[in-house]
Amino acid sequence: MRGNADMREMNVAVMVSGGGTNLQALLDAAADGRLQHARIALVLSSQEDAYAIERSRRAGVPVIVVSKQTHPDDEERADAILAALAGAETDLVVTAGYMSILAKNVCSHYAGRMINIHPSLLPKYGGVGFYGLRVHEAVLAAGEKETGATVHYVDDQGVDSGAIILQGRSPILEGDTPETLQKRILAEVEHPLIVEGTNLVIQKLRDKDFS
Ligand code: GRF
Repeated sequence: MRGNADMREMNVAVMVSGGGTNLQALLDAAADGRLQHARIALVLSSQEDAYAIERSRRAGVPVIVVSKQTHPDDEERADAILAALAGAETDLVVTAGYMSILAKNVCSHYAGRMINIHPSLLPKYGGVGFYGLRVHEAVLAAGEKETGATVHYVDDQGVDSGAIILQGRSPILEGDTPETLQKRILAEVEHPLIVEGTNLVIQKLRDKDFS
């Protein structure tokens, strides 16, 4: 039985594909102590030119690129992802702006230890085809009065289909465009939510570890 105090820091691996602003929120939280009992041990990118890689390098976090270019075969790519995550002794995977569909065996291997952030109030405006600006376009087209973001577990049942952990809400403003909405949801909802959601799941894993 391990006591809470003597438990090591948890290793968090962040999976990215693009700008990495959610990654940056986690890196900033790790740097200023708001990320509790954890460190960002690895950034895994599905794109070799992702600006998220630059953010990782500036923070001194190891980066591994596993992409369709480096690993064209789906099974080999999934194995490379598992090997990279295992190599960092990953306790929790956070997919943040990760635009590649993860193989079922990767999701099931990290069942209960893999979370994602999605820029809508799931289950609405989630699933296949709902990513990036498309999410906000659909929210506006539907005449919604509010939107937000969701941190949820990643399961092997589908896209954006896992149990919801946290949600943050924000009203839609007069004159909002998909671009203004995306920018505001990212900054005002997602960035605080990804840190709060990661802390919450880390605490759940710690409680489980020493229960
Ligand atoms: C964010 O809206 C995130 O929720 C979605 O991808 C967008 C870009 O994220 N999955 P980031 O700036 O790369 O973190």
